[in-house]
Amino acid sequence: MPGMRITVTGAAGQIGYALLFRIASGAMLGDEPVRLRLLEVPAAVGAAEGTAMELVDCAFPLLESVDVFDDAGTAFDGAQIALLVGARPRGPGMERSDLLEANGAIFAPQGAAINARAADDVRVLVVGNPANTNALIAASHAPDVPADRFSAMTRLDHNRAVAQLAARTGARVGDVSRVTIWGNHSTTQFPDLAHARISGEPVAVDSSWVEDDFIPTVARRGAAIIEARGASSAASAANAAIDHVRDWVQGTSPHDWTSAGVISDGAYGVPEGIVSSFPVTSDGTGWRIVDGLEIDAFARSRIDASVAELLEERDAVRSLGLIP
Ligand code: NAD
Ligand code: LMR
Repeated sequence: MPGMRITVTGAAGQIGYALLFRIASGAMLGDEPVRLRLLEVPAAVGAAEGTAMELVDCAFPLLESVDVFDDAGTAFDGAQIALLVGARPRGPGMERSDLLEANGAIFAPQGAAINARAADDVRVLVVGNPANTNALIAASHAPDVPADRFSAMTRLDHNRAVAQLAARTGARVGDVSRVTIWGNHSTTQFPDLAHARISGEPVAVDSSWVEDDFIPTVARRGAAIIEARGASSAASAANAAIDHVRDWVQGTSPHDWTSAGVISDGAYGVPEGIVSSFPVTSDGTGWRIVDGLEIDAFARSRIDASVAELLEERDAVRSLGLIP
């Protein structure tokens, strides 16, 4: 069997550089051979070719091929996994939604190219910001691809939340489960500990720490990284993309769930059709929203606030003509 065909956009960017070597080493798909197809804008094709040379020089046993393209149709031809990373990052003082106009236009033609050329079983992860709404744009230009094959990355927020809870309680990261990110990958997101467990037991943390410290720390972590590094998160974002696809393809643990932006089917009162983060599991075939969780008044107001922002973003891209 030939290796999995994986298309990565923005391959010459900082996330691309942190991501590609880990995919090729087997961190994302285990022992499965991979064929990498890198998409860049013409001005960055040279840099992507340099990265491709380095990938070859690693002599990864699982890497069957690496090719560089500046044409989306060719890059997505036969793609089974598409990682849409290529987009501008925000700078200090910007919100991710400030990127809508600059980046949204990237995702309509890429959605159309995926529709026309990708494999029937393609799975698409949108990383480029604002990730939820960019995923909505891409999916709406791919009418022949089932909507549940598109997802947006909130796994970095999820991992940040797990790490913050572990640090607060002294637990090991691996003992934390059932943390949820709801809503948008933005400062309105709701990192939720109501159902979280440590070593299988419910978590007792005081609500003032949750509201005044935990939630703002997780929701504003991207900005804090930009402030500290002078550039947006890259290795942690690449790591989250690896975690997202690995759990999607290999399945989540039976005792845990993860978080991902998926197209809402109306679950938990989130309007149908927008890409919102939910608690999700996978049996290896696709994401499934965890059902039956109790939502208290505090959670309801936080989820509603983030959903309101997603609806505003949807309306903004509609008025830009990026979705019907
Ligand atoms: P970067 O500027 O280092 O790299 C982006 C790359 O994308 C550049 O090489 C650029 O040439 C390329 N690109 C631009 N338009 C393209 C197109 N149409 N097709 C193919 N490639 C294209 O940025 P980065 O730090 O790698 O971040 C990439 C995106 O990921 C940003 O939008 C950033 O905000 C986002 N991000 C999201 C998360 C998340 O959790 N969802 C986390 C971190 C970063
Ligand atoms: C992050 O969460 O680190 C990324 O989305 C980058 C950003 O703009 O915050």
